[in-house]
Amino acid sequence: MQELMRYYDERAPEYDEVYLGKSPGIPEPEFYKQDVEEISEICTRFGRGHLVDIACGTGFWLPYYINNCTSVTLVDQSRQMLVECQKRINGLDRHANVRFMKGNFFRLRFFLETFDVALIAFFISHLTEEMVEVFFSKIKRLLKPGAEILWIDGAWSAKRARYREKEGIQRRELNNGQEFNIFKKYYDEDDIKMLLKKHLFGLHSVYIGDVFFAVRAVLKD
Ligand SMILES: C[S@@+](CC[C@H](N)C(=O)[O-])C[C@H]1O[C@@H](n2cnc3c(N)ncnc32)[C@H](O)[C@@H]1O
Repeated sequence: MQELMRYYDERAPEYDEVYLGKSPGIPEPEFYKQDVEEISEICTRFGRGHLVDIACGTGFWLPYYINNCTSVTLVDQSRQMLVECQKRINGLDRHANVRFMKGNFFRLRFFLETFDVALIAFFISHLTEEMVEVFFSKIKRLLKPGAEILWIDGAWSAKRARYREKEGIQRRELNNGQEFNIFKKYYDEDDIKMLLKKHLFGLHSVYIGDVFFAVRAVLKD
């Protein structure tokens, strides 16, 4: 976990390049462009009331959903990621209240606060099976009954399989050559459906691209 934390702090200024297909897992930028367009569109139709964006990073998806919400809580452990996120927010015409919570999601205390919706993008894929269980039990405590989640993450596809392992410790390199070893798991449609069913989320919509997926699901009462 420590290495993941350092990796994202160091990567923050160049992080958004992945959405342009630069330094990608699959060296074909057009697939990234297509999935980013589709998922941005999904985000423009997502969000209401108080949204929690867990592991928000640079807030890449935030401009698309923010004006659907009254309040947004942005959670991330990386100071540098939150610096980039604040820069993005400064450039927006927005009405929602925005609050940052810096820290490890698993340790942060939300007291009795609950949320109407949650965005979880490219976070679950960094969690081992055991931590995924801990994650779902925590998020379910944070969500109101009937709350909705949007889970965006890296898809396991035939294209991905040409360049990556489905699951395990993987090497990542920054533009300056620094290397990190981080845990990553790519999810296919069956994995996604099984996990959501197990944790009592009903599927609302599923988009599976060549590189990314986006799934909307509702917490059953
Ligand atoms: C791949 S980035 C995703 C950023 C953003 N959600 C997006 O879709 O562009 C993963 C983010 O998770 C954050 N992160 C990793 N582990 C975390 C933890 N335990 N608690 C809070 N944030 C964490 C990292 O700092 C990083 O910003």
